[in-house]
Amino acid sequence: MITVAIDGPAGSGKSTVARALARRLRAPHVDTGAFYRAATLAVLRVGVDVRDGQACARVARAARIERRDDRTLLDGDDVEEEVRGRRVTAAVSAVSAHPGVRAALLDRQRAQAVAGGVVEGRDAGTVVVPDAELKVWLTAAAAERARRRAGQEGVADRAAVAAQIADLRARDRRDAARMRRADDAVVVDTSGRSVEAVVDELAGLVRRVARAGGRR
Ligand code: DC
Repeated sequence: MITVAIDGPAGSGKSTVARALARRLRAPHVDTGAFYRAATLAVLRVGVDVRDGQACARVARAARIERRDDRTLLDGDDVEEEVRGRRVTAAVSAVSAHPGVRAALLDRQRAQAVAGGVVEGRDAGTVVVPDAELKVWLTAAAAERARRRAGQEGVADRAAVAAQIADLRARDRRDAARMRRADDAVVVDTSGRSVEAVVDELAGLVRRVARAGGRR
């Protein structure tokens, strides 16, 4: 099984596409953001300051974070819903910015990706699996990303979408330092396209790379 790295900004469709592609390929799906979300929940539970890098790194190192069947476990408890909630989403950029937190989680992310599969995250192609045989950078227009997010949260009026646009832009700005497109990534714009259409395209790219013996 080849390794596919899928990166891109918040709301680009990364998670949905990565999960669907992994299912199509019958390959593991490695959601690197889920590790940062779980570490953030651990930080919030302990009550340390999210701006304190050393304290956050200590909490991240001590936390037992697992991913099983696309669910996130923290110290043995299923926290999948909680890590997707507003409280964690508002704090995750601050916690994930600390180098000590990133160092604490990197090996666990890599361990999950050893057998190949679809690895997804802001730095999947540049840091987590830089040798991935296929790297994809997903993009989407800001308004569409906001609509998707608003839809996910069950609100779709114009004010909610406008608030989401502001929120996504702010999160992209905070994540910008860690969000780097690998030079050898294929850019795929998901604006106006169905998940299935994007997955079809990526599955075609995977087939082509696999046929070429893993060479891009
Ligand atoms: O993809 P997501 O929204 O679940 O990611 C949550 C946060 O974690 C995001 O704001 C940035 C951070 N993140 C990161 O810094 N590096 C990654 N590889 C994945 C996520």
